Amino acid sequence: MWVGSSGAATALPAAAASAFAAPMAASAPVTMDPGLVNVRLTVNDVVRDAQVDVRTSLLDYLRENLQLTGTKKGCDHGQCGACTVHVNGRRVNSCLSFVAMHDGDTVTTIEGLGTPDRMHPMQAAFVAHDGLQCGYCTAGQIMSATALLKEPCGRSDADIKEAMSGNICRCGAYSNIVAAIRQVRDAT
Ligand code: FES
Ligand code: FES
Repeated sequence: MWVGSSGAATALPAAAASAFAAPMAASAPVTMDPGLVNVRLTVNDVVRDAQVDVRTSLLDYLRENLQLTGTKKGCDHGQCGACTVHVNGRRVNSCLSFVAMHDGDTVTTIEGLGTPDRMHPMQAAFVAHDGLQCGYCTAGQIMSATALLKEPCGRSDADIKEAMSGNICRCGAYSNIVAAIRQVRDAT
């Protein structure tokens, strides 16, 4: 039975009824929540497939889905730089980016940069120059600093400070951070 807009019940002719029913019967059952999306990212050289809520930020995906908690959530508004990671070799604030936008992308987090036993030169320089106090901003600072090495940045301290101005350190380790970056830059 078909109920029209008038609310009156009307019988469909048999042919029309079967034409109406056929596509329904042929359709595959819809099992995926329309709010979910499939993504494939390469994170720290490992291919990761996931089905995520379309609203998931790259930061939350890294921290909560992959348990890569080295990347920190500070402001969650693009103002502190604590969440900085590399996407296809360039630094981004992962809190400002939906993971759904990065299907097929390559992401590097602080865990992929080096290990305590085999530190990236920038990590070693931060340790050597005491470029950290509480350490909360440090992963983001180091990710920004390593990306900076490949950017058209001048060689003065002022140039480095300008290029690093998106990374905030509440502890005020700035002078040592600049010294660490300068050491690595001068060696390259
Ligand atoms: S947490 Fe992303 S910029 Fe602050
Ligand atoms: S070392 Fe504490 S916020 Fe930077």
